[in-house]
Amino acid sequence: MQTRESLDEKIELVFSADQIAAAIERMARDIARDYAERPLLLVAILKGAMFVVSDLARALSAIANGPLCTLDFMAVSSYGNQTRSSGEVRLLKDASESIEGRDVVIVEDIVDNGLTLQYIHGLLASRKPNSLRTAVLLDKPYRRLVDVRLDYVGLIVPDAFVVGYGLDYQERYRTLPFIANLILPGSSEPAR
Ligand code: IMP
Ligand code: MG
Repeated sequence: MQTRESLDEKIELVFSADQIAAAIERMARDIARDYAERPLLLVAILKGAMFVVSDLARALSAIANGPLCTLDFMAVSSYGNQTRSSGEVRLLKDASESIEGRDVVIVEDIVDNGLTLQYIHGLLASRKPNSLRTAVLLDKPYRRLVDVRLDYVGLIVPDAFVVGYGLDYQERYRTLPFIANLILPGSSEPAR
């Protein structure tokens, strides 16, 4: 079995499970205020947003007179195995429902250079939803290469590569309940 020790990678806490829960609670209250009791389709981007959408959808459904949520999923890849985006976004799995005429919120784990969300937003906007907004747990605003509108943001991340709560490094660390920096072998600084 590969362990963190055998990989010689270290992690360093950035946001605790409680801080994440509080951020998602705030996002849910803002979304519920804007959509009231309207039906709302949450489109989560796999794999990273799986925990965000799961907690956000349940937080929304626990709010009295909140939106009536349904879920759909898309999957894209843009990173390969590096900590920097390749800049090229590929659609791995499309949404399964028609979004024409519907109120849609794209749910994403993190926005870095913005290319991934810009691609998904453009694709879904072309399908004529009634409205289209974005909800992201983590934002790295200083890394943006393209302008994307974020309607609901959980937390601003310090400039370093983060893992946990859905976010991976080479597919590892997604299942951590908190968000951490990654310190790679031979380095004393968090990876960027
Ligand atoms: P963007 O296209 O650069 O905005 O990157 C968005 C995608 O890259 C996210 O959906 C994540 O999957 C991945 N990503 C960006 N920053 C990080 C990070 O710090 N840790 C893990 N994945 C990241
Ligand atoms: Mg992602």
